[in-house]
Amino acid sequence: MSDKRELSIGIFDSGIGGLTVMKELMKALPYEPMTYFGDTARLPYGAKSREVIIRYSIENAIFLMEQNIKMLVVACNTASTFALERLQQMFNVPVLGVIEPGAEKAAKTTTNRHIAVLGTDGTIKAGVYPQKIKRHLPDAQVLSVACPLFVPLVEERFVHHPAAKLIVKEYLQPLHDHPIDTILLGCTHYPILKRLIQEELGNHIKIVDSASSCAENVVWTLKNHDLLASGNHPANCRYFVSDDPKKFRDNAQNVFGFTLPEVQSS
Ligand code: DGL
Repeated sequence: MSDKRELSIGIFDSGIGGLTVMKELMKALPYEPMTYFGDTARLPYGAKSREVIIRYSIENAIFLMEQNIKMLVVACNTASTFALERLQQMFNVPVLGVIEPGAEKAAKTTTNRHIAVLGTDGTIKAGVYPQKIKRHLPDAQVLSVACPLFVPLVEERFVHHPAAKLIVKEYLQPLHDHPIDTILLGCTHYPILKRLIQEELGNHIKIVDSASSCAENVVWTLKNHDLLASGNHPANCRYFVSDDPKKFRDNAQNVFGFTLPEVQSS
């Protein structure tokens, strides 16, 4: 029987956004093989119902389990919001999401207890971030703003287009009326727009996301389950998408400067 420790970490998102999480994982765990799945055929997840997101998430997890993974990271905030518990019940590998790490990070970062959370419609309507932030910081004031056009801006490579600046300005308008000191980017695609968000709100605002704290949780979980890979050379990572591997590969190059090896169709 193969040594479980040498299996890969499975990561999924609706598209390219989960690479923001994978990037942090690769920094923290350079010797761990990883298998990424982007559900590009069914993106965006943010406007879909809870039932649909659960169904897609289960299908994505089954696909990754078939690739022989030792652990699953639900890098998508929307999928973590609706499907994390279900995946944890269904699969016999550790399953981690991104909501709790992001909430904890925001609660630790704010000094005046005024936090804004930006996310997809689904994540914002579910109200999970304010709930979790208040567990860490009961008197926190949390303003939640859905930014549904941010995902297509990233997926369609409009990040450097003047339209992106206008859309960021429009969505962030309500924030100017609140004494926010910390913004939590509650969608994996949003860190790609971080520079525009910072420019709009000013350098005094701290912008955080789930990626680095999620990576810390993954390290801790692997150690705890005795699942750390034994190798000491950079590991192989594999990338799968449900549609248009070329577009995904080009976007990864454009957005992250990642030259991905082959991107395969699932
Ligand atoms: N990137 C996903 C998230 O973190 C969802 C984006 C989308 O597909 O709408 O919520």
